[in-house]
Order: sequence, then structure tokens, then C-alpha cells
Amino acid sequence: MEIRLRHTGRLDGVALEQLVAAEGAIYSDCGWRRWELPIFAEYGRNIVFEVDGVLAGSAQLIRAWDQPSLVYLAGFGLLPERQKQGLGTRCLALLIAQMKEQGAGSIELTAAPDNTAAVKIYSDAGFRVMARHDAKYGPGEDRLIMRLNLEEPTS
Ligand SMILES: CC(C)(COP(=O)(O)OP(=O)(O)OC[C@H]1O[C@@H](n2cnc3c(N)ncnc32)[C@H](O)[C@@H]1OP(=O)(O)O)[C@@H](O)C(=O)NCCC(=O)NCCS
Repeated sequence: MEIRLRHTGRLDGVALEQLVAAEGAIYSDCGWRRWELPIFAEYGRNIVFEVDGVLAGSAQLIRAWDQPSLVYLAGFGLLPERQKQGLGTRCLALLIAQMKEQGAGSIELTAAPDNTAAVKIYSDAGFRVMARHDAKYGPGEDRLIMRLNLEEPTS
């Protein structure tokens, strides 16, 4: 199985439709829409995960305005049929390695406390919970703020 991470750059109409459909399949009504994905693709990073050349998921990233070495992982998901096979763990490891290569000092993200799979793969990758923001995205939408420091010496 060959896993490839690809920064899409500017999306043409077909690629945009495919990714919007993937967002709907992964997150139902909470995924990125046609208005948002091009912003990541052109001004941040819109990365697709391809398994043997076929789209399996994607990630969206930006750099923080006040702290350019901080990368914010705004989205990370796999198509439902690709979940629970160890692929999230592998794609996250590849993504972290790529961000490190590109000079990121740390990566931050938010995760719903009850998103067991997400919290597990992030924790296993070394992300630590920095805070919990209640109602971050509205009533009942609490989020953990998790951060991975890439500058910590590895022993
Ligand atoms: C979160 C996500 C990326 C994890 O990827 P994945 O490929 O399904 O996860 P993996 O197969 O690598 O599993 C990693 C671990 O989590 C566990 N896990 C996976 N799905 C789980 C679930 N639904 N409930 C509990 N544990 C789960 C696995 O058992 C595994 O643990 P192990 O290493 O002890 O065996 C994927 O489920 C996904 O795309 N979810 C929808 C989008 C989303 O929620 N993204 C995160 C937003 S913050």
C-alpha cells in the first residue's frame, strides 16, 4: 500500500467538487464547503492523502499570523470506508514529518472531547491537551486544544 501526501495548490472545478463531496461524507454538515477549501488550497495548505493513487482523506492547515512557526491543523479526516484501518495514524505521522521538514515549530488543533479516535491518534502522535474551551463552536460544542511541540529534543 502506497500512501502519498499531496499539496493540491489551486483546485480546479472537478477537484473542488470531489473534495467538497469527501468533506460531506466525512463530517456530514460540518465539513469545509466550496467557499473555504480554495482558501486553504491557495493561502494555506490543502493536503490530500492518496492510497495507491486514490483519494482517501485530506487535511487543511494554516500558519498563525502572530507566530509563524505555529501550524494550525484545521481539518484532518479520512473517508468513512478508509477509517479504523490504521490509516489515520499513518497519515498523521507523514503529515507531522512533512510539517517538520517545512520548518514548523509546533502544531495545534482542536478536537471534540468525545471524538475518541481523533483524541487517541493525536495523543499517540505526541499531542498534549493544553486547554479545554467550553462551547468553543457554540452550545454543546466543547473542544480540547491540543499541541505538538516539534522542537522538543527526541531521546
Ligand atoms: C479521526 C480519524 C482521522 C482516525 O483515523 P483512523 O484511520 O480511523 O484511525 P486508526 O485506524 O489509525 O486508529 C487509531 C486508533 O484509534 C482507535 N479507533 C479508531 N476508530 C475508533 C473509534 N471510532 N472509537 C474508538 N477508537 C477508535 C483504533 O482502535 C486505534 O487504536 P489502537 O492504535 O489502540 O488500535 C478518522 O476516524 C476520521 O477521519 N474521522 C472523521 C473525521 C474526524 O473526526 N477528524 C478529526 C477531527 S479533529
